[in-house]
Amino acid sequence: MTVSHSTDYIVSPGGALHGRIRVPGDKSISHRAVMLGAIANGQTSIRGFLQGEDTLATMAAFRAMGIKIDHGGEDVSIHGAGLYGLKPPAHPLNLGNSGTSARLLAGLLAGQKFDCEIIGDASLMKRPMRRVTDPLKEMNADISCSEQGTLPIRIRGGRRLQGIDYTLPVVSAQLKSCLLLAGLYAEGKTCIQETVATRDHTERMLQHFGCVLEKKNNAICIRGGSEFKASEIVIPADISSAAFFIIGASIAEGSDITLENAGVNPARIGVIRVLQSMGADITLTNQRIASSEPVADIRVRASQLHGIAIPPELVPNAIDEFPAIMIAAACASGKTVLRGAAELRVKESDRIAAIAEGLHAIGISVVTHDDGMEVTGGRIRGGTVNSHTDHRIAMAFAMAGLKSEEAIRIEDCTNVNTSFPGFIELAQIAGLNIRREIPGAS
Ligand code: S3P
Repeated sequence: MTVSHSTDYIVSPGGALHGRIRVPGDKSISHRAVMLGAIANGQTSIRGFLQGEDTLATMAAFRAMGIKIDHGGEDVSIHGAGLYGLKPPAHPLNLGNSGTSARLLAGLLAGQKFDCEIIGDASLMKRPMRRVTDPLKEMNADISCSEQGTLPIRIRGGRRLQGIDYTLPVVSAQLKSCLLLAGLYAEGKTCIQETVATRDHTERMLQHFGCVLEKKNNAICIRGGSEFKASEIVIPADISSAAFFIIGASIAEGSDITLENAGVNPARIGVIRVLQSMGADITLTNQRIASSEPVADIRVRASQLHGIAIPPELVPNAIDEFPAIMIAAACASGKTVLRGAAELRVKESDRIAAIAEGLHAIGISVVTHDDGMEVTGGRIRGGTVNSHTDHRIAMAFAMAGLKSEEAIRIEDCTNVNTSFPGFIELAQIAGLNIRREIPGAS
């Protein structure tokens, strides 16, 4: 993990987004490629790996457990050690800002022979972990978290896990994936039922590696001890990173941009569906499958957006995109209502509070609820926004500059590196008037 000085973004008003760009690799898929590659038999080669701090934290954790990883830019080669080849780490595994790393690893590590501890940065240390430790205990894991239900997670190894039938009480792909990974080490079958379909990258990648998954009455089941073989994985560009440009191009008059090679897994394209309902002009071309994941080029042209009540069934599939979607709402005519999104309170920041505070700061009226918010479109005046060290808050408010009357300063944007290294440079190429400033530096 890099130690970096705090960075502010300054976005000057106006501009439009143009050209064909490719955002970095998908974060969710990059994490899973390292994790599954590490416990596969043989050498997995990955192309398009996201070199963000979150995915590098996952990589460092597996290196600390004895996995040899060759890493040259977006190309990564993992020397898989098989299901039972991980070694005890010498220190607690520090997963930085990454909830996906912490929760998926809790499942993968619950069935190992060794003890270990999972920690993270100040934001991750506050996020809820009982959702993973409770069902893992039901599987007979010896696992604990803090009294507040947060990290550190401590695991005592050498337990014989038992398969379970489990219905997810929270809509969470991280929890589903955690339990599928634990299921690999459990006796019998582990069957997970979800009430709403969440991103299925773990299932797709396991099958891509030749691991057999079964469907039983809508549940997805995995059998303990299922070994699988290394494979090649080509990672698409991250739709969650593309989302900032999709929204920027939709709101900025005259924009016409194409996001190349973006992952368009059906459980990830809620952002496109929501924006299309608001009147956005978005078309998918060149649709194809790469390493078992759907991929397309996404063309976005500016359009006049109108507010909507966001259909609740789209919320889980757009969960990471609400900071950006609420910027679109601020630029739309009328009111946009988001409900059923309480999960936003426990992301990298309390995103309902952070979005509302930021929108107020730039002149937009917002009403908040426990599980959502109502945003009334209006004039974006400009001002200073606190990112609350949340990468997606920072990048969303950067796009608001396209429609702002005065400059927008976004404070503390260093964590953009967790998911989108090179964001400023790519945004400049696309047409955003953005620069970084290190507070206090002359
Ligand atoms: C992720 C799942 C989502 C998402 C996160 C990445 C994943 O979290 O918000 O950024 O890779 O599985 P939840 O599954 O907890 O909603």
